[in-house]
Amino acid sequence: MVAKKKAVYGRVLLKLSGEALLGRQSSGVDPKVASFIADEIKSITDLNVQTCIVVGGGNIFRGLEASSQGMDRTSADYMGMLATVINSLALQSALERRGISTRVQCSIEMREIAEPFIQRKAIRHLEKGRIVIFAGGTGNPYFTTDTAASLRAMEINADIIMKATKVDGVYDCDPVKNKNAVMYNNISYIDVLTKNLKVMDATAISLCRDNNLPIIVFNMQKKGNIRRAICGEKIGTYVGE
Ligand code: GTP
Repeated sequence: MVAKKKAVYGRVLLKLSGEALLGRQSSGVDPKVASFIADEIKSITDLNVQTCIVVGGGNIFRGLEASSQGMDRTSADYMGMLATVINSLALQSALERRGISTRVQCSIEMREIAEPFIQRKAIRHLEKGRIVIFAGGTGNPYFTTDTAASLRAMEINADIIMKATKVDGVYDCDPVKNKNAVMYNNISYIDVLTKNLKVMDATAISLCRDNNLPIIVFNMQKKGNIRRAICGEKIGTYVGE
């Protein structure tokens, strides 16, 4: 049971990886995982935090991997962006089944499926208490969904990016491969870049650094963590100046 506390952030952008949606499946969206994530998000609705989401597409298609195997990089990246649209619709559906009002805005125009990304409209939706899911990455090849998260967070004036991962935070080396890996409680953008810590790609981190937008890297698979992070509990790793 998580104690009732107040949120320390007014507006957050939650970045989810596509892989997180895999669950036990080898590809696609595991409905159980989508439900878990939606329940976690529902658990913060009473905090009145304006929330938007960017989700990756790696559970369906990995652009970089396909291009390393010979596919044209631009085509591969567009396929990855389409994968994020599928994931965004899956999350929208899971959230709306729980009575949470949402809007999906897509960087690539597909008006039958989603609204186009319009910064002012996104902010209006947030002000009305809707969760806005930004689909389609940045709409450009050669950019990751982490960079899309940084860009959108900047555009909508988010207080923080909450980067969900399957480990507890940022470590000095891969904690899955090395049991002696040490987690940082705080780390600077520059250290993330110079130590090549792979929190997010360099473009995304640099964008956050240039605009002084902090990031919390935390384990989303632990129930209650998103609420803890939003209420300012010291979980995960805080990336800042
Ligand atoms: P407010 O009027 O500001 O409260 O926002 P709203 O989103 O409720 O109003 P709007 O009339 O823009 O949208 C009504 C519904 O249509 C919402 O579910 C939107 O997500 C959806 N919608 C709006 N524009 C588009 C679009 O270009 N494509 C698609 N597929 N849906 C859209």
